[in-house]
Amino acid sequence: MPKLNDTVRDLLIRQVGREMFASLTYRMAKSAWYEAGCTAAHRWAREEAEHEVHHSRKVDKYLAQRGEVVACPTVEGPKVVRGATDIAKTLLALEESVTDDWQAIHEAAEAAHDGETCSLSIRFLDEQVDGVDAARRVLRFASATTDSMAFDQQMENEFG
Ligand SMILES: [Fe+2]
Repeated sequence: MPKLNDTVRDLLIRQVGREMFASLTYRMAKSAWYEAGCTAAHRWAREEAEHEVHHSRKVDKYLAQRGEVVACPTVEGPKVVRGATDIAKTLLALEESVTDDWQAIHEAAEAAHDGETCSLSIRFLDEQVDGVDAARRVLRFASATTDSMAFDQQMENEFG
């Protein structure tokens, strides 16, 4: 495979860290829901956190296939929030911003006529549709009630 264009490479390296940030954000949600006794929400967030680590590895692996080495990506820590509605809003904002990241990678890859990275970004953008949709549903359940157990029951019905 040809060498990556500089812009595409820089965006992909940044994305390794962004996917780790996504994982940390789901971990933050996981802990907050654990403390609140929301076991279904906790379980769901834990699975999503693992999913995001997998995304980061996938991008890392792709970079390696293209002959690039990521030394150590910069990863910011998520802001800690409490309460199901605020957590859900944070997760929705996260998924929307990660969608923007992949959109930018797709556009850069297209401009560089890099078909491989275009395919990679399309696969990630497809997954983002599900990620945004799930976060919207969680926000809908959280906003519908002030009873954390009723919220958790909804989470169990939807994702359990
Ligand atoms: Fe992701």
